[in-house]
Amino acid sequence: MGLNVIMMGAPGAGKGTQAERFARERGLPKISTGDMLREAVREGHPIALKAKERMDRGELVDDDTIIAIVRDRLAKADARRGFVLDGFPRTVAQAEALDRIMRERGGEPLVVVDVEVPQEELVSRLAMRRICVKCGTNADPKRQVNTCPKCGGELVQRTDDNKDVVLERLHVYHRSTTPVLEYYRERPTFRVVNGAQPADRVAHELDTLIDDAAGAKAL
Ligand code: AP5
Repeated sequence: MGLNVIMMGAPGAGKGTQAERFARERGLPKISTGDMLREAVREGHPIALKAKERMDRGELVDDDTIIAIVRDRLAKADARRGFVLDGFPRTVAQAEALDRIMRERGGEPLVVVDVEVPQEELVSRLAMRRICVKCGTNADPKRQVNTCPKCGGELVQRTDDNKDVVLERLHVYHRSTTPVLEYYRERPTFRVVNGAQPADRVAHELDTLIDDAAGAKAL
């Protein structure tokens, strides 16, 4: 049976950072709806250009578009043995759609982890974050370099990381995504990790929590 993980958390909680590391270490694909949308924007995909307007305002992209993207991605061969989802589901409608997809895959369980971080810390992390304009890599803000360590591209602030848009994203998170946590909270495979610790410490706790939750059987 595959290991199917959902990394939840507010904007800036570190779910992308942790999803990337966990997926790499376990040999699973990291499926980030935010990264997929940004990549489609860089490639000039027509659907993504419409989505970009919503992303730049800090609003969610519509459920039908996102569910179709995730359904297609989960059908690829590399996701058969499991996956790590980052940034999906963000609405109860998306969570219900994912349950339907999981039933079609034979009813495999979902391990859901909420990465919790206080709001002041989220705002300060997002103000400092820089990403590569070419490949989207998240640069370590402590290293204070101007070029991407992977491809040499220019490091810039994400278009939705300015203060007003960050506050709107947090507002949208509380309104639309907090109900998703309630949707999952009673499942035996739901866990919470304290994300306001050094990233290595969070990663270590996540390893233990996810392995423990994966042992608890239920969808
Ligand atoms: P998305 O890209 O998913 O953005 P987000 O949820 O706002 O999350 P972030 O990427 O900002 O934060 P993160 O938790 O991944 O943190 P990170 O690891 O980068 O979505 C963007 C937009 O796309 C949405 O607003 C929406 O419009 C659209 N969209 C995407 N999915 C959608 C969906 N399902 N439905 C509808 N619309 C959708 O870390 C942040 C920073 O903190 C980094 O600089 C990192 O280096 C640093 N950091 C990480 N961990 C630590 C730590 N432990 N200590 C100190 N610093 C840390």
